[in-house]
Amino acid sequence: VQHFLGARQFSWYELERILALAEVMREMLESPAGRRELADRHKGRIVATLFFEPSTRTRLSFESAAHRLGINVISTENAREHSSAAKGETIEDTVRIVESYADAIIMRHHENGTAERAAAVSSVPIINAGDGTGEHPTQGLLDVFTVKREKGRLDNLRVVAGGDLANGRTVRSFIQMLALYPGNEITFISTPELQMGEDVLNYLDQNKVRYTKTNSLKGSIESADVVYWTRLQKERLSNSKLESGFVIDEDVLSVMRKDAIIMHPLPRVDEITAAVDKDPRAAYFRQAKNGVYIRMALLDLALS
Ligand code: CP
Repeated sequence: VQHFLGARQFSWYELERILALAEVMREMLESPAGRRELADRHKGRIVATLFFEPSTRTRLSFESAAHRLGINVISTENAREHSSAAKGETIEDTVRIVESYADAIIMRHHENGTAERAAAVSSVPIINAGDGTGEHPTQGLLDVFTVKREKGRLDNLRVVAGGDLANGRTVRSFIQMLALYPGNEITFISTPELQMGEDVLNYLDQNKVRYTKTNSLKGSIESADVVYWTRLQKERLSNSKLESGFVIDEDVLSVMRKDAIIMHPLPRVDEITAAVDKDPRAAYFRQAKNGVYIRMALLDLALS
Protein backbone atom coordinates (compact mmCIF):
# COMPACT_ATOMS: atom_id res chain seq x y z
CA VAL A 1 0.00 0.00 0.00
CA GLN A 2 1.42 3.39 -1.02
CA HIS A 3 1.01 5.75 1.96
CA PHE A 4 2.23 9.37 1.87
CA LEU A 5 3.15 10.26 5.44
CA GLY A 6 6.27 12.43 5.62
CA ALA A 7 9.18 13.96 3.73
CA ARG A 8 11.74 11.40 4.83
CA GLN A 9 9.97 8.53 3.09
CA PHE A 10 11.03 9.89 -0.31
CA SER A 11 14.27 9.20 -2.12
CA TRP A 12 15.57 11.72 -4.64
CA TYR A 13 14.36 9.40 -7.39
CA GLU A 14 10.83 9.19 -5.95
CA LEU A 15 10.59 12.95 -5.58
CA GLU A 16 11.64 13.43 -9.19
CA ARG A 17 9.09 10.86 -10.32
CA ILE A 18 6.26 12.66 -8.51
CA LEU A 19 7.35 16.05 -9.87
CA ALA A 20 7.49 14.66 -13.40
CA LEU A 21 4.04 13.10 -13.06
CA ALA A 22 2.62 16.38 -11.72
CA GLU A 23 4.06 18.14 -14.76
CA VAL A 24 2.31 15.61 -17.03
CA MET A 25 -0.96 16.27 -15.18
CA ARG A 26 -0.49 20.03 -15.59
CA GLU A 27 0.12 19.70 -19.33
CA MET A 28 -2.79 17.31 -19.86
CA LEU A 29 -5.19 19.64 -18.04
CA GLU A 30 -4.34 22.35 -20.56
CA SER A 31 -5.99 20.56 -23.49
CA PRO A 32 -9.61 19.36 -23.85
CA ALA A 33 -8.36 15.95 -25.06
CA GLY A 34 -6.04 15.66 -22.05
CA ARG A 35 -8.85 16.55 -19.66
CA ARG A 36 -11.13 13.93 -21.18
CA GLU A 37 -8.45 11.26 -20.90
CA LEU A 38 -7.79 12.15 -17.26
CA ALA A 39 -11.49 12.12 -16.40
CA ASP A 40 -11.63 8.41 -17.28
CA ARG A 41 -8.39 7.46 -15.54
CA HIS A 42 -9.77 6.39 -12.17
CA LYS A 43 -13.48 6.37 -12.92
CA GLY A 44 -15.49 4.60 -10.25
CA ARG A 45 -12.85 4.89 -7.53
CA ILE A 46 -13.63 6.63 -4.24
CA VAL A 47 -11.44 8.65 -1.87
CA ALA A 48 -12.42 9.90 1.58
CA THR A 49 -11.34 13.25 3.00
CA LEU A 50 -11.21 13.22 6.80
CA PHE A 51 -10.25 16.67 8.07
CA PHE A 52 -10.13 17.17 11.84
CA GLU A 53 -8.77 20.71 11.34
CA PRO A 54 -9.87 23.56 9.04
CA SER A 55 -8.55 23.76 5.49
CA THR A 56 -9.23 25.67 2.30
CA ARG A 57 -6.41 24.76 -0.08
CA THR A 58 -5.48 21.21 0.87
CA ARG A 59 -8.95 19.82 1.06
CA LEU A 60 -10.41 21.61 -1.96
CA SER A 61 -7.36 21.00 -4.17
CA PHE A 62 -7.41 17.30 -3.24
CA GLU A 63 -11.12 17.15 -4.03
CA SER A 64 -10.55 19.05 -7.28
CA ALA A 65 -7.66 16.70 -8.15
CA ALA A 66 -9.90 13.70 -7.46
CA HIS A 67 -12.68 15.03 -9.69
CA ARG A 68 -10.18 15.76 -12.48
CA LEU A 69 -9.21 12.06 -12.37
CA GLY A 70 -12.79 10.81 -12.35
CA ILE A 71 -12.60 9.83 -8.67
CA ASN A 72 -15.64 10.25 -6.40
CA VAL A 73 -15.12 11.93 -3.03
CA ILE A 74 -16.82 11.14 0.28
CA SER A 75 -16.22 13.45 3.18
CA THR A 76 -17.20 14.53 6.65
CA GLU A 77 -17.57 18.18 7.41
CA ASN A 78 -15.23 19.10 10.31
CA ALA A 79 -14.43 15.54 11.40
CA ARG A 80 -13.50 16.66 14.93
CA GLU A 81 -17.12 17.68 15.56
CA HIS A 82 -19.17 15.76 13.03
CA SER A 83 -17.52 12.33 12.83
CA SER A 84 -17.85 9.78 15.60
CA ALA A 85 -14.49 10.98 16.95
CA ALA A 86 -16.71 13.43 18.85
CA LYS A 87 -18.20 10.40 20.65
CA GLY A 88 -14.76 9.08 21.55
CA GLU A 89 -13.99 6.77 18.61
CA THR A 90 -10.25 6.21 18.15
CA ILE A 91 -8.52 7.11 14.90
CA GLU A 92 -7.72 3.42 14.41
CA ASP A 93 -11.39 2.45 14.58
CA THR A 94 -12.41 5.34 12.33
CA VAL A 95 -9.85 4.23 9.71
CA ARG A 96 -10.95 0.57 9.93
CA ILE A 97 -14.45 1.75 9.01
CA VAL A 98 -13.58 4.30 6.32
CA GLU A 99 -11.18 1.91 4.54
CA SER A 100 -14.20 -0.24 3.71
CA TYR A 101 -15.92 2.75 2.08
CA ALA A 102 -13.01 4.29 0.12
CA ASP A 103 -9.94 3.35 -1.93
CA ALA A 104 -7.74 5.96 -0.19
CA ILE A 105 -8.03 8.24 2.85
CA ILE A 106 -6.77 11.83 2.90
CA MET A 107 -6.45 12.90 6.51
CA ARG A 108 -5.65 16.08 8.42
CA HIS A 109 -5.41 15.88 12.19
CA HIS A 110 -4.46 18.15 15.08
CA GLU A 111 -2.19 15.54 16.74
CA ASN A 112 1.32 14.74 15.52
CA GLY A 113 1.77 11.18 14.28
CA THR A 114 -1.90 10.50 13.55
CA ALA A 115 -1.23 9.68 9.89
CA GLU A 116 1.28 7.00 10.97
CA ARG A 117 -1.26 5.55 13.40
CA ALA A 118 -3.83 5.46 10.62
CA ALA A 119 -1.39 3.84 8.18
CA ALA A 120 -0.54 1.15 10.73
CA VAL A 121 -4.09 -0.22 10.57
CA SER A 122 -5.16 0.76 7.05
CA SER A 123 -5.36 -1.51 4.03
CA VAL A 124 -5.86 1.51 1.74
CA PRO A 125 -3.40 4.38 1.16
CA ILE A 126 -3.30 7.07 3.85
CA ILE A 127 -2.30 10.53 2.66
CA ASN A 128 -1.16 12.88 5.41
CA ALA A 129 -2.75 16.27 4.74
CA GLY A 130 -1.10 17.76 7.85
CA ASP A 131 -0.63 16.35 11.36
CA GLY A 132 -0.27 18.82 14.23
CA THR A 133 3.14 20.46 14.17
CA GLY A 134 4.59 17.40 12.45
CA GLU A 135 4.46 17.42 8.67
CA HIS A 136 2.48 18.40 5.62
CA PRO A 137 4.18 16.33 2.92
CA THR A 138 1.77 17.04 0.07
CA GLN A 139 2.36 20.76 0.65
CA GLY A 140 6.12 20.10 0.71
CA LEU A 141 5.79 18.40 -2.66
CA LEU A 142 3.84 21.25 -4.20
CA ASP A 143 6.43 23.63 -2.75
CA VAL A 144 9.38 21.87 -4.41
CA PHE A 145 7.30 21.59 -7.61
CA THR A 146 6.80 25.37 -7.44
CA VAL A 147 10.51 26.04 -6.93
CA LYS A 148 11.36 23.80 -9.89
CA ARG A 149 8.83 25.56 -12.12
CA GLU A 150 9.79 29.06 -11.02
CA LYS A 151 13.57 28.71 -10.68
CA GLY A 152 14.21 25.85 -13.10
CA ARG A 153 16.17 23.82 -10.52
CA LEU A 154 16.11 22.44 -6.99
CA ASP A 155 19.85 22.54 -6.28
CA ASN A 156 22.37 25.27 -5.49
CA LEU A 157 19.73 27.63 -4.15
CA ARG A 158 19.94 30.14 -1.34
CA VAL A 159 16.72 29.59 0.57
CA VAL A 160 15.46 31.80 3.38
CA ALA A 161 12.70 30.29 5.53
CA GLY A 162 11.06 32.59 8.06
CA GLY A 163 8.19 33.03 10.48
CA ASP A 164 6.85 30.45 12.92
CA LEU A 165 9.27 27.64 12.09
CA ALA A 166 8.62 25.78 15.35
CA ASN A 167 4.96 25.16 14.61
CA GLY A 168 4.67 25.46 10.84
CA ARG A 169 4.48 21.92 9.46
CA THR A 170 4.68 22.92 5.79
CA VAL A 171 8.13 24.43 6.09
CA ARG A 172 9.39 21.32 7.89
CA SER A 173 8.33 19.09 4.98
CA PHE A 174 9.62 21.51 2.34
CA ILE A 175 13.08 21.92 3.88
CA GLN A 176 13.55 18.18 4.39
CA MET A 177 12.70 17.57 0.73
CA LEU A 178 15.15 20.25 -0.40
CA ALA A 179 17.82 18.44 1.63
CA LEU A 180 17.91 15.73 -1.06
CA TYR A 181 19.30 18.21 -3.61
CA PRO A 182 22.96 19.28 -3.51
CA GLY A 183 24.35 22.73 -2.87
CA ASN A 184 21.37 24.34 -1.17
CA GLU A 185 22.02 26.80 1.65
CA ILE A 186 19.23 27.48 4.13
CA THR A 187 18.82 30.46 6.45
CA PHE A 188 16.15 30.16 9.15
CA ILE A 189 14.79 33.50 10.34
CA SER A 190 12.74 33.57 13.52
CA THR A 191 12.72 34.46 17.18
CA PRO A 192 14.67 31.96 19.32
CA GLU A 193 11.45 30.40 20.68
CA LEU A 194 9.95 29.86 17.23
CA GLN A 195 13.08 28.59 15.47
CA MET A 196 13.25 25.41 13.38
CA GLY A 197 13.14 22.19 15.40
CA GLU A 198 16.30 20.26 16.25
CA ASP A 199 14.97 17.14 14.49
CA VAL A 200 14.94 18.96 11.14
CA LEU A 201 18.33 20.58 11.81
CA ASN A 202 19.80 17.16 12.61
CA TYR A 203 18.40 15.83 9.34
CA LEU A 204 20.07 18.69 7.48
CA ASP A 205 23.34 17.83 9.24
CA GLN A 206 23.01 14.18 8.19
CA ASN A 207 22.49 15.29 4.58
CA LYS A 208 25.38 17.79 4.77
CA VAL A 209 23.11 20.76 4.05
CA ARG A 210 24.56 24.10 5.14
CA TYR A 211 22.24 26.24 7.28
CA THR A 212 22.29 29.20 9.64
CA LYS A 213 19.81 30.54 12.19
CA THR A 214 19.17 34.23 12.75
CA ASN A 215 16.50 36.52 14.17
CA SER A 216 17.06 39.28 11.61
CA LEU A 217 15.69 39.68 8.10
CA LYS A 218 18.74 41.65 7.08
CA GLY A 219 21.85 39.89 5.85
CA SER A 220 20.29 36.92 4.03
CA ILE A 221 17.12 38.14 2.34
CA GLU A 222 19.15 40.31 -0.06
CA SER A 223 20.86 37.33 -1.73
CA ALA A 224 18.03 34.76 -1.43
CA ASP A 225 16.78 32.89 -4.49
CA VAL A 226 13.74 31.61 -2.60
CA VAL A 227 12.04 33.29 0.37
CA TYR A 228 9.58 30.94 2.12
CA TRP A 229 7.45 32.81 4.62
CA THR A 230 5.00 31.40 7.16
CA ARG A 231 2.33 32.72 9.50
CA LEU A 232 2.27 32.55 13.26
CA GLN A 233 0.35 29.35 14.08
CA LYS A 234 -1.93 31.03 16.61
CA GLU A 235 -4.04 27.90 16.98
CA ARG A 236 -1.00 26.09 18.44
CA LEU A 237 0.33 28.89 20.63
CA SER A 238 -0.94 30.50 23.80
CA ASN A 239 1.02 33.74 23.97
CA SER A 240 4.00 33.67 21.58
CA LYS A 241 4.34 36.39 19.03
CA LEU A 242 6.55 37.35 16.16
CA GLU A 243 7.79 40.92 16.19
CA SER A 244 6.54 43.31 13.55
CA GLY A 245 9.99 43.05 11.91
CA PHE A 246 9.03 39.65 10.50
CA VAL A 247 6.88 41.13 7.77
CA ILE A 248 7.57 41.04 4.03
CA ASP A 249 6.54 44.42 2.69
CA GLU A 250 7.57 46.74 -0.14
CA ASP A 251 10.70 47.81 1.77
CA VAL A 252 11.86 44.19 2.01
CA LEU A 253 10.98 43.67 -1.67
CA SER A 254 13.20 46.60 -2.60
CA VAL A 255 16.33 44.86 -1.28
CA MET A 256 15.55 41.41 -2.72
CA ARG A 257 17.03 39.98 -5.90
CA LYS A 258 15.07 40.72 -9.06
CA ASP A 259 14.87 36.99 -9.85
CA ALA A 260 13.94 35.85 -6.33
CA ILE A 261 10.58 34.28 -5.55
CA ILE A 262 8.45 34.69 -2.44
CA MET A 263 6.53 31.62 -1.34
CA HIS A 264 4.00 31.08 1.42
CA PRO A 265 1.88 27.98 2.07
CA LEU A 266 -1.09 30.26 2.88
CA PRO A 267 -3.28 31.27 4.58
CA ARG A 268 -1.43 34.57 4.89
CA VAL A 269 -2.51 36.79 7.76
CA ASP A 270 -0.37 39.94 8.04
CA GLU A 271 3.19 38.62 7.58
CA ILE A 272 3.17 39.51 3.86
CA THR A 273 1.44 42.79 3.07
CA ALA A 274 -1.17 42.87 0.29
CA ALA A 275 1.00 45.40 -1.59
CA VAL A 276 3.51 42.61 -2.29
CA ASP A 277 0.92 40.58 -4.22
CA LYS A 278 1.26 42.57 -7.43
CA ASP A 279 5.02 42.02 -7.61
CA PRO A 280 5.89 39.23 -10.09
CA ARG A 281 8.19 37.71 -7.45
CA ALA A 282 5.13 36.93 -5.29
CA ALA A 283 4.67 33.26 -6.20
CA TYR A 284 2.27 32.16 -3.47
CA PHE A 285 -0.94 32.13 -5.51
CA ARG A 286 0.79 30.23 -8.32
CA GLN A 287 2.13 27.90 -5.61
CA ALA A 288 -1.40 27.18 -4.32
CA LYS A 289 -2.58 26.38 -7.87
CA ASN A 290 0.24 23.84 -8.22
CA GLY A 291 -1.39 21.88 -5.41
CA VAL A 292 -3.91 20.41 -7.83
CA TYR A 293 -1.22 18.96 -10.14
CA ILE A 294 0.80 17.46 -7.27
CA ARG A 295 -2.30 16.00 -5.64
CA MET A 296 -3.45 14.52 -8.94
CA ALA A 297 -0.04 12.84 -9.21
CA LEU A 298 -0.28 11.50 -5.65
CA LEU A 299 -3.81 10.17 -6.11
CA ASP A 300 -2.76 8.57 -9.39
CA LEU A 301 0.14 6.79 -7.66
CA ALA A 302 -1.93 5.83 -4.63
CA LEU A 303 -4.71 4.31 -6.72
CA SER A 304 -2.63 2.69 -9.47
N1 CP B 1 -1.42 25.40 2.95
C1 CP B 1 -2.46 24.81 3.57
O1 CP B 1 -2.33 23.73 4.16
O2 CP B 1 -3.63 25.50 3.51
P1 CP B 1 -5.02 25.02 4.11
O3 CP B 1 -4.85 24.98 5.62
O4 CP B 1 -6.03 26.01 3.65
O5 CP B 1 -5.29 23.63 3.60
